[in-house]
Amino acid sequence: MKKLLFVPVLLLFICCNKEKSEKAQTPKTPVKDDHSFSKPANAVVTHLDLDIKVSFDSSRISGKASWQIDNISKGNEIIFDENTLEIQKVTLGDDDTPTTFRLGEAVEFHGRPLYIKIAPNTTRVNIYYNTTKDAIALQWLKPEQTADKKKPFLFSQGESIWSRTWIPCQDSPSIRFTYNAKVTVPSDLMAVMSAENPQQKNNTGVYNFKQTKAIPSYLMAIAVGDLAFQQIDSRTGVYAEPSVVKKAAAEFGALGNMVNAAEKLFGPYRWGRYDVLVLPPSFPYGGMENPNLTFLTPGVIAGDRSLTSLLAHELGHSWSGNLVTNATWDDIWLNEGFTTYVEHRIGEAIFGEKEAKMQDVLSRKLLADNMAEYGPNNPDTRLRVNTTDRNPDDGLSDIPYEKGYAFLQTVEQAVGREKFDNFLKSWFDDHAFQSVTTKTFTDYLNDNLIKGDKVLEQKINAWVWIYKPDIPDNVTVPVSEDFLAIDVIQKNWRTTGVKGLAGKIKSTNEKQHFIDYLPNDLTISEMQAIDEEFNFTKGGNFVIKRQWFVQAIKHQYKAAYPDIESFMVATSRTGSLLTLYKEMIKTPEGKAWAKSIFAKAKAGYHLTTVEAVGNILK
Ligand code: BES
Ligand code: ZN
Repeated sequence: MKKLLFVPVLLLFICCNKEKSEKAQTPKTPVKDDHSFSKPANAVVTHLDLDIKVSFDSSRISGKASWQIDNISKGNEIIFDENTLEIQKVTLGDDDTPTTFRLGEAVEFHGRPLYIKIAPNTTRVNIYYNTTKDAIALQWLKPEQTADKKKPFLFSQGESIWSRTWIPCQDSPSIRFTYNAKVTVPSDLMAVMSAENPQQKNNTGVYNFKQTKAIPSYLMAIAVGDLAFQQIDSRTGVYAEPSVVKKAAAEFGALGNMVNAAEKLFGPYRWGRYDVLVLPPSFPYGGMENPNLTFLTPGVIAGDRSLTSLLAHELGHSWSGNLVTNATWDDIWLNEGFTTYVEHRIGEAIFGEKEAKMQDVLSRKLLADNMAEYGPNNPDTRLRVNTTDRNPDDGLSDIPYEKGYAFLQTVEQAVGREKFDNFLKSWFDDHAFQSVTTKTFTDYLNDNLIKGDKVLEQKINAWVWIYKPDIPDNVTVPVSEDFLAIDVIQKNWRTTGVKGLAGKIKSTNEKQHFIDYLPNDLTISEMQAIDEEFNFTKGGNFVIKRQWFVQAIKHQYKAAYPDIESFMVATSRTGSLLTLYKEMIKTPEGKAWAKSIFAKAKAGYHLTTVEAVGNILK
């Protein structure tokens, strides 16, 4: 039930911090974030000292979040966000002076405001709390749900507004803070965070972390499990369960080169180390860009590095997202659209132009498919969206990614690559460790690229791209010679037969393109023949299987049904699952089947996945 009595609709005027530093705090323009109850213009957090204990017996985190604050208005109150936490007590200062607090009314998705009484000179607020079983951000896995099946596992997922379910915080991407953490875990497990990390398990079960760069709350992250570490190069490496770590390190062998390539394009990597944590399959995303330590689905380990573009994406967030952050969830294209651009550029630098062209075409298809699904007038197809009163994750589609990418490519083409590269580099540099709005971007674009040139302004047409639904006419249309060759094969295979095609259609991209454009009237026996030739049902990697299974569902290729079921039970990657569930619910029998799979899989899915899949099966 929606209770909207308590959404604060105040304009938050935030202090202006001219200094360009790692601790740079807040946007220079006023920001209103409807998804946080906090009023940072009055009193804002600057640093967190977290001291928590992780208990697998009770599936709880408990401890103390000690916040350094800046009481800007010198008033008597600071407001935090919380959702499903139990707050035991709150004290002030290093000497734990008792104070009072109260909780406001709960609002769907948003949780409750936590009002704490402070004094004008208060600089530290200590919140003693524990999490509950309803913490959306936390997934507690039983040993059976892990790769090695021996030890339990915990991981967090903060984006978009879930960090408040495991830490009381001012949960807006416009507010940044540094943190130190002391984390106590069972002594046979290891803890890692979105910070500088240990590389070895110790016997005490106590781990200390430091994040010296100011980050927004959604990038707070923790994972606890039986973890091993393997170095890739001097600043990159992989954490995973012992049986996975070697494979993962081989798969991500190009990681160090990717960081180097990205630095060349976008300026220095400012975070110190870049490591990757491979999670169990119930991780609900492909990847999550937690600072210093990207969290990744095990589904990227294809054996041939063919899905590493996902890694380039998460690495890319070290510039677009983590360094320069969307100030509200309505501006998410500034995170995801920019990162999709950055991902493609890193991909081009590492894998070459042919690969990049294929990825471009795949990107545009995803955009077209999404547009077709949403319809040309749908407000969610604008780059800047409106998620007020909504769960920001629900409005999330491929649009901010792929339309954002298409827009930036359009700008690149209008001004030329060299100019655009310089522009992007300075965008990141000038807004480093700041949170920015869409307006920050359009002002910057006008001041630094368009500079009053009316013809160029028309050519780019930024306003229409950003504030109107649908795809403007000036969108670039990528062409891949390799895909054109696949198109020729596609045209002819029904007469020439499928034998030998696997020798011609080899890479993951090519296979995906071939699968996606199979004819609408494909027959079961044709599917069988294709499957015999390529072994997609049993032998495909995660992406190939997903795309092939869409066809199998569409054409009722029953031979693949058991594999479809196990695929959908084994992963909790929401985006991919939705693709398959949406295809299933197109027919009544399919919908019944979808419901039966969901019933089986639900217990193993992440809470956010349960919510998203539940919504479409209603
Ligand atoms: N930051 C996102 C994941 C996310 C977005 C979580 C919004 C919660 C709310 C991450 O960088 C991402 O985009 N992951 C993609 C992979 C990418 C290659 C498209 C995913 O998980 O599919
Ligand atoms: Zn992303």
